[in-house]
Amino acid sequence: MEEILQDVERAKSLDELEALRVRYLGRQGWLTQELRRLGELPMEERRLRGQELNRLKAELERALTARAAQLKQQALEERLNRERLDVSLPGYALPRGGLHPITLMLRELLAIFQSMGYRPVQGPELEREFFNFDAVNMPPWHPARDMQDTFWVRQEGEVAEERFPGPLGDYLLRTHTSPMQIRYMLAHTPPFKIVVPGRVFRYEQTDASHEAMFFQLEGLVVGEGISMADLKGAIYELARSLFGAEARARFHPTYFPFVEPGAQFALWWPERQKWLELGGSGMVHPKLFEIVDAYRVQLGLPPAYQGLSGFAFGMGVDRLALLRYGVPDIRYFYQQPRLSFLKQFRG
Ligand code: PHE
Repeated sequence: MEEILQDVERAKSLDELEALRVRYLGRQGWLTQELRRLGELPMEERRLRGQELNRLKAELERALTARAAQLKQQALEERLNRERLDVSLPGYALPRGGLHPITLMLRELLAIFQSMGYRPVQGPELEREFFNFDAVNMPPWHPARDMQDTFWVRQEGEVAEERFPGPLGDYLLRTHTSPMQIRYMLAHTPPFKIVVPGRVFRYEQTDASHEAMFFQLEGLVVGEGISMADLKGAIYELARSLFGAEARARFHPTYFPFVEPGAQFALWWPERQKWLELGGSGMVHPKLFEIVDAYRVQLGLPPAYQGLSGFAFGMGVDRLALLRYGVPDIRYFYQQPRLSFLKQFRG
């Protein structure tokens, strides 16, 4: 019996162990046979032999179980040793993109204007002739329409749900964000301050500084006693927020049909000692208030703009982003997005 137990303890694998179990405890195993043969023995001997065999059986079973547990534990430890993780190895770098520079620029501009109390709103890119031109004081014969070469969208039937009824003319891709001035004034009562970020489209040859699609940020403030000083204040604040305390702004008289007086404005960028021509601005033309109020009456709304004044501005976002991020060509913004390009801009 001692030998058997030693064999069990020395077994080097679960297979060896199983062979031993079969040899002694299996159906043809030695112990099993011995137990079967008990019946052949005389009464007294049978009892003693029976006790002995059962003790042996129990001992052997215990030994087998114990050794099996040991072997399993050993195997586990070996595996853990073999498969040890080296946590000091450098990890896999997950690819990381960046936000598009236009997105970064827009976020920065919107944050600046929101801090001044402006509410950001958006309008449709597929616009109606009426809002893009007529309502901002550019009737069909107006020469200023030629300044903004237009993508007309001739369409069988209606394209989009229009919330405003009436003869609104053809569909087009908006050439500026100014039509949203009209849409917003129709549906809201002053006073208010809004900014309108969005894509605009012009039928133009592209080069390093021109694209047929680009971004504008429109601003509109309407209330009682709003003056040119408020406009200048807003643009100066924009300059300082973008370029620091040394920044300045300047205004030159210009003509836009929807403002009077009108002015283009530029910001002084101290770091680069440069003026950036950024956009147009001016006091909302009284004609726009008249058009809006007349339309409101048609819609069954009370007129809301009599005796008020306001200012508006519209600026190019792309040009600012080009300069701010040192991108040499506007076309990089709108090619197939390339990760190598985008990765340079975090945020
Ligand atoms: N809509 C004008 C443009 O696209 C910019 C502008 C907006 C000028 C508001 C004055 C007031 O050029």
